[in-house]
Amino acid sequence: MVSTYSWWSPPGPAGGASGSSGGADRAGSSGSSELPGRSVLVSTHPPYAAIFQSDMLVLVTGGAGFVGANLLRELLDHGFEVRVLDDLSAGRTAYLEALDVELLQGGVDDARTVRRATQECDAVVHLAAMSGVAPSVEHPERDFETNVRGTFNVLDAARRAGVGRVVFASSGAVLAGARPPLEETQLPHPLAPYGASKVYGETALEAFQNAYGFSGITLRFSNVYGPYCWHKRSVVAAFLRNALHGRPLLIYGSGRQTRDFLHVRDVTGAIRMALLSPSSGVFQLGTGVRTSINRLARLVSDAASVPLRVERRPGRRGDASRSYADISRARRVLRFHPRIDLPTGLSETLAWMREHEGSPPRSRA
Ligand SMILES: NC(=O)c1ccc[n+]([C@@H]2O[C@H](COP(=O)([O-])OP(=O)(O)OC[C@H]3O[C@@H](n4cnc5c(N)ncnc54)[C@H](O)[C@@H]3O)[C@@H](O)[C@H]2O)c1
Repeated sequence: MVSTYSWWSPPGPAGGASGSSGGADRAGSSGSSELPGRSVLVSTHPPYAAIFQSDMLVLVTGGAGFVGANLLRELLDHGFEVRVLDDLSAGRTAYLEALDVELLQGGVDDARTVRRATQECDAVVHLAAMSGVAPSVEHPERDFETNVRGTFNVLDAARRAGVGRVVFASSGAVLAGARPPLEETQLPHPLAPYGASKVYGETALEAFQNAYGFSGITLRFSNVYGPYCWHKRSVVAAFLRNALHGRPLLIYGSGRQTRDFLHVRDVTGAIRMALLSPSSGVFQLGTGVRTSINRLARLVSDAASVPLRVERRPGRRGDASRSYADISRARRVLRFHPRIDLPTGLSETLAWMREHEGSPPRSRA
């Protein structure tokens, strides 16, 4: 069976990308055949020649988490079959209610579990991680077990199972100490174990791709926000929770530090594109817009339609001072065009949180 991708047009010869550490753009080793009204991507990566089509079975590790819960909806809406592997240490089964997905509860740090989960899968989106800078500074060993060993297990299981495509969720934290705008060509400069563990994932994906031939792509997310974020410790989730409960917004440091806030639906659209695209390498995802934490506090106050009190705290170790992404490569190669602006996205997320206020947040750390 062949699926129709009316939204996709093959990248031109200039559309190639290469990874920050030499990851080759494999567009040249994959072909696309176009029939009237349809376009099929054919991977010719030996030995995993496969047709990437939107009815494929995708394993989403960490699928019960924030990005995962949104991604499952995106994939199901577009006809993919989805299996989830999640240990539920941070994610929640409530996020998966009424979704037609297979949930395997288990840890990516257990190789046998991951091998079972990848069987018969056409593709893997590897989201499972101990997510965030602060938890990694508090628990570097846990960061290592989940993000380094877990990622190795996923890649190893993918090659054993003959999985055709792996999408790896990396982070702008890889470049936390680099000068923005963050670009794929900059050398990694992590400031915390979290960023270092993502450097491992990116380079291991490239190495596995070169050694074993499957096709992989790394997406480096900037600061993601949106619905299904109750359990998150991110600044947006924390501000919105406090706004809902009339508590002060806590700002660490001067508040002049900047971030690039990206709506989760823009992320999940890019992941779906990345699943179907023949391109490899590393891609920065963001909006290219820098927003200071002080301005974010004002925007949250506007979204909540009440003046909110701010409390200042000392800056935290591992936090970048300025961060925003240059997304020109993702625009060019993946046709990535973030659509949701921050004020709109904050209002929507606040409305989602209000609606789900009865659900208590559950955090891992
Ligand atoms: N949210 C962001 O702003 C952001 C930014 C950059 C990168 N990322 C990356 O995107 C991915 C998803 O992030 P998120 O915001 O959805 O985080 P999240 O914490 O909401 O989701 C991670 C999921 O992984 C699961 N998990 C954790 N350890 C596991 C293990 N050992 N085995 C199996 N499952 C495990 C958790 O239960 C959770 O459901 C992560 O890899 C994260 O590093 C997120």
